[in-house]
Amino acid sequence: MQNTEAKSSFDTSIQPITEKEFNNLRDFMYSLTGVALPPSKKSLIFSRLRKKLETLKFTKFEQYYEYLKQPNRDAEIEYFINAITTNETYFFRHTKQFNYLHDVLFPSFIANQTNFPKKEVSIWSAASSTGEEPYSLGITCKHFFQNNPSWRFKLYASDINTDVIQQAKEGVYNERAVKYVPDSFKKKFFTQEILDQGGINQKKYKISSEIKKIVEFRQHNLLKRFPVDNINIIFIRNVMIYFDKQTKTKVFNNFFDVLAPKGYIFISLSESLSEFEPKIKSMGTAIYQKV
Ligand SMILES: C[S@@+](CC[C@H](N)C(=O)[O-])C[C@H]1O[C@@H](n2cnc3c(N)ncnc32)[C@H](O)[C@@H]1O
Repeated sequence: MQNTEAKSSFDTSIQPITEKEFNNLRDFMYSLTGVALPPSKKSLIFSRLRKKLETLKFTKFEQYYEYLKQPNRDAEIEYFINAITTNETYFFRHTKQFNYLHDVLFPSFIANQTNFPKKEVSIWSAASSTGEEPYSLGITCKHFFQNNPSWRFKLYASDINTDVIQQAKEGVYNERAVKYVPDSFKKKFFTQEILDQGGINQKKYKISSEIKKIVEFRQHNLLKRFPVDNINIIFIRNVMIYFDKQTKTKVFNNFFDVLAPKGYIFISLSESLSEFEPKIKSMGTAIYQKV
């Protein structure tokens, strides 16, 4: 069946993506990232790569696939991954989890200092996208630990997509991204500016350098082991939904390996890690602890 919905009305040269072309690109994406694209994502592939095919003067997705498979195509492969990953996120997504950190977990760390002889907490946002999640963690830490100045915290953030890492480092956000940021935090940790974007004035929120400098961003593929050990808290939210069972197990083993004894894992409310019990135990609200 021809995929008419996938063909943009203003495009005249690119042929609709065939079943075989979709399968080749889907398998390639899977081998690189573990992201398993269902058949419903055919139109997503078409719309996100259409311009690239035009630039390369290709008319068929088959040509783009062959091009990607040639030697020394690292930059093109990076473009392909960046184009296909889904990066939806916003500040204080699942706010309750940040409240739990501030109201329950951090106070319990202070109360049981034997587990933290160095008075240091490390946190990794493992699919950090454009930075809203790690910066929300940064704000939460800053807010809590200001009253416990002898404690230190270390924040790592990573994503496979190099474009989102770049945007995260810039730290400039629109109104929608900061919708759930309490006003007091907006005042304290952001500066507001009006930017001219294509003749339209847009209100932008720039994360303060105080928060920016405490998050260390790097590109990282979850199919590999993260190069930092003994992490106390891992936020790995809204990424395992893209993985099949086999990839999820591989990714789990990779991050479980770098999680400190009794460390915590935060996932999204639509995900579960129940298949990995009893290595971990549920603490409620999509939070698990290493056993
Ligand atoms: C929907 S965003 C989640 C952002 C944030 N964690 C949140 O919950 O708001 C999913 C992110 O996972 C990243 N991703 C997908 N596959 C990945 C992989 N194999 N390794 C690292 N990051 C990956 C994507 O680039 C994307 O930025």
